Amino acid sequence: MISRIRNIDLVYGCIVPTILTVWGHYFFGPPASLPFSVSHKKESFMSALFTPFQLQSVTLRNRIAVPPMCQYSATDGLTNEWHQAHYAGLARGGAGLVIVEATGVSPEGRITPACTGLWNDQQVEGLARIAANIKAAGAVPGIQIGHAGRKASAQRPWEGDDHIPADDPRAWQPIAPSAIAYGGDLPRVPKAMTLADIARVQADFVAAARRAVAAGFEWLELHFAHGYLAQSFFSPHSNQRTDQYGGSFDNRARFLLETVEAVRKVWPAHLPLTARFGVIEYDGRDEETVAESIELVRQMRERGLDMVNVSANFVIAETQIPWATPAFLAPVAQRVRSEAGLPVASSWGIDDPKIAESAVADGQMDLVMIGRAHLSNPHYTYHLAQVLGAQKPEWTTLPAPYAHWLSRYRGAAKVAAAQ
Ligand SMILES: Cc1cc2nc3c(=O)[nH]c(=O)nc-3n(C[C@H](O)[C@H](O)[C@H](O)COP(=O)(O)O)c2cc1C
Repeated sequence: MISRIRNIDLVYGCIVPTILTVWGHYFFGPPASLPFSVSHKKESFMSALFTPFQLQSVTLRNRIAVPPMCQYSATDGLTNEWHQAHYAGLARGGAGLVIVEATGVSPEGRITPACTGLWNDQQVEGLARIAANIKAAGAVPGIQIGHAGRKASAQRPWEGDDHIPADDPRAWQPIAPSAIAYGGDLPRVPKAMTLADIARVQADFVAAARRAVAAGFEWLELHFAHGYLAQSFFSPHSNQRTDQYGGSFDNRARFLLETVEAVRKVWPAHLPLTARFGVIEYDGRDEETVAESIELVRQMRERGLDMVNVSANFVIAETQIPWATPAFLAPVAQRVRSEAGLPVASSWGIDDPKIAESAVADGQMDLVMIGRAHLSNPHYTYHLAQVLGAQKPEWTTLPAPYAHWLSRYRGAAKVAAAQ
């Protein structure tokens, strides 16, 4: 009997799907969905984190998102087998949304020479496979596009994280609103952008957004945070221009507003357009920065932004960021949500199951972005379901070839009980 069950499981759990997959690949290219149900025994349980979330015509299966995380593993902006396996693995872990890492809108807009790009059609091919794999695993495929500004032309983090020396053939000249260096490990003085440079970068954002549509992404995040180009236009620390892109609130906001408006025209109306935006610098003038940032989020919403991923500015190195406080950005995200009047996501230390659950249940944010915990365990979403008391956590989060076995595995219950 046992051997018969094993054979049946083998045939239906392995051989048949393999035949279908090979056959499907041969005739139709990559599958639109997996040859088994991702969640056919799904239950609903009392958890705000595990309720679906709809934005425009897109519905996420839960409120957990894997935020963009650079892999610094591309060549000439092209993705490879590393990225395929990495993103498929994350999506199979059960999160509702998986956002592909900061992808340069131009070669000069990459943080490092190993960052992904979307400035040519060749780059679409690999990203299209990534988007298809994320979707086949039941998650919504998202991508973040950006320009690194004065933080560009850096080494990979594990090679120093600092600017590549200017005389190194891998280096390039960073550009920024003003010729002011970030300092510290990133000392290169950027070239101040001309009006033609500004128009070109905005056109690059638009072209990259078009390619993201062609690649099959259903969620676009503009990288307007972390001291990169767009954030550095809005911050008086890095923008000291005297033309229409610097000085007053309206002028510092102009680059971001124009970019949202231009991208919205090519990004489909039925798909979410979002931005990651730093709203606080932790530099001692936070009230003013947060209030200004909320006003800018309101204006971006009027130009078609659907959601903001609330983050910190990271424009300057000398700040008082409360790293030791779990979910330190959650109260800021809640304020943006209530005062700017659009859905928000946020991250930074929101991986504790109870904190993540209450962040959504208490209305601090609509989506919880959980990064490093998913690098530690790509099935971290399954872990959250276990700890939050789902009756069938594996069927709530994982694909059938994993869920079936884990539902019979007593070790899984022990893991949950130990939390
Ligand atoms: C390896 C790594 C790469 C990252 N790359 C990006 C990125 O491409 N774009 C971005 O906006 N944030 C990036 N971040 C920040 C994460 O999206 C996230 O905000 C951060 O890890 C905090 O969330 P956590 O505490 O859940 O890890 C990166 C973080 C890590 C650890």
